Amino acid sequence: MTVAGRGPRRGRALSKLGVIQDGAVLVRDGAIAAVGTTAKLEKLAAARKAEKIDVGGRVILPGFVDSHTHLIHAASRAEEYELKIQGASYEEIAQKGGGILNSVKKLRAATSQELKRRASAALEVFAAHGTTTIEAKSGYGLDVASELKILSLHKQLGAEQPIEIVSTFLGAHVVPMEFRAKADGAEEYVKLLTDWLIPEVASNGLAEYCDVFCDRGAFSRAQAKRVLAAGLDYRLVPRLHAEQLTRTGATQLAVELGAASCDHLEQVNAGDMRALAKSNTVATLLPGCDFHLGLKQYAPARKLIEAGAIVALATDYNPGTSPTLSMPMILSLACTQLRMTPAEAIVAATYNAAYSLGRHRRVGSIEVGKQADLAVFEVEDWREIPYYFGVNTCWLTLKSGSVIYAAV
Ligand code: NIG
Ligand code: FE
Repeated sequence: MTVAGRGPRRGRALSKLGVIQDGAVLVRDGAIAAVGTTAKLEKLAAARKAEKIDVGGRVILPGFVDSHTHLIHAASRAEEYELKIQGASYEEIAQKGGGILNSVKKLRAATSQELKRRASAALEVFAAHGTTTIEAKSGYGLDVASELKILSLHKQLGAEQPIEIVSTFLGAHVVPMEFRAKADGAEEYVKLLTDWLIPEVASNGLAEYCDVFCDRGAFSRAQAKRVLAAGLDYRLVPRLHAEQLTRTGATQLAVELGAASCDHLEQVNAGDMRALAKSNTVATLLPGCDFHLGLKQYAPARKLIEAGAIVALATDYNPGTSPTLSMPMILSLACTQLRMTPAEAIVAATYNAAYSLGRHRRVGSIEVGKQADLAVFEVEDWREIPYYFGVNTCWLTLKSGSVIYAAV
């Protein structure tokens, strides 16, 4: 499946996979030199000289682009998982100092080395599920030193292992504990972000994007606007956690600011969907959160697609709401819970996700000139990628033409 085509996919174009039966890919210097049927490629002189990888009739697709993760965190929150199953809500746990603040406490106590070890292991699991590019957000540090520590790890890990890491500053995840006791604590924290942290992050080239968790219990739409506007002053492109638990109007803000992506969207209304449809802001859906939290209201994917929004899918890998590293599992959820077809889910998890990270000219599809980021699945029919769930059918993953995961 090449997922070839120009520009972000909306509506009917979201299901165009570009299937080549008995296909082959020729790779040179990490880039795709040719793609077509095996019969056609075998006639090329360069192909005859090339080292051959026989995938034995399995399915090849572009490596997944996971455009929303919280890669760096210190530990799971399995204790909260149990409380949630017993009836406590995500917000109740957060109000009692659990939730994101629980992860902040754990991260601040962890060394850079410990965080790096955990993230490195996660990156290997991403690769083992066919993912070749991820976005990673800070947001479990929430003080100057800890946020910079996380963002520096994005940079280090990006340089030391094969998966490309696109860095996002999420200092506005929640108001940290030490600011909550003060009357104007939230405002003071926003000021710390806009006047000190954002300039510091940008001047050190530690992030490309700036994100805000805009929701009840996190940041208001007005606060989100100030943070994202400050980010824009320093060329950090906005992304937004929007309309997850409650509708705040964050989607309209995302569109107004020309955000690259607007994520979650369980609570969007018709006006929000129209605004997204008219914009180039990607609607990134994260069904892993609703699944893990046991919530029944998934984002209205069908309506978003039919309205003409650019829909993408991501894991939202994080310890509180979506502890998964598996894009194939997200595709399964997208099919059964969001009622997306397997084809739509695949395009949303490759090309459209790459578009939301400004990398669609380089990754997200199998086309001549693009980076040879490929995933091979042990299935007979591409629809079996989401069909099989809770098992890993990824067989081989290549990053820039090099094997980074092999099942056997
Ligand atoms: O994307 N919504 C905010 N941030 C994360 C959850 C973070 C957490 O609970 O640790 C999310 O769902
Ligand atoms: Fe998130």
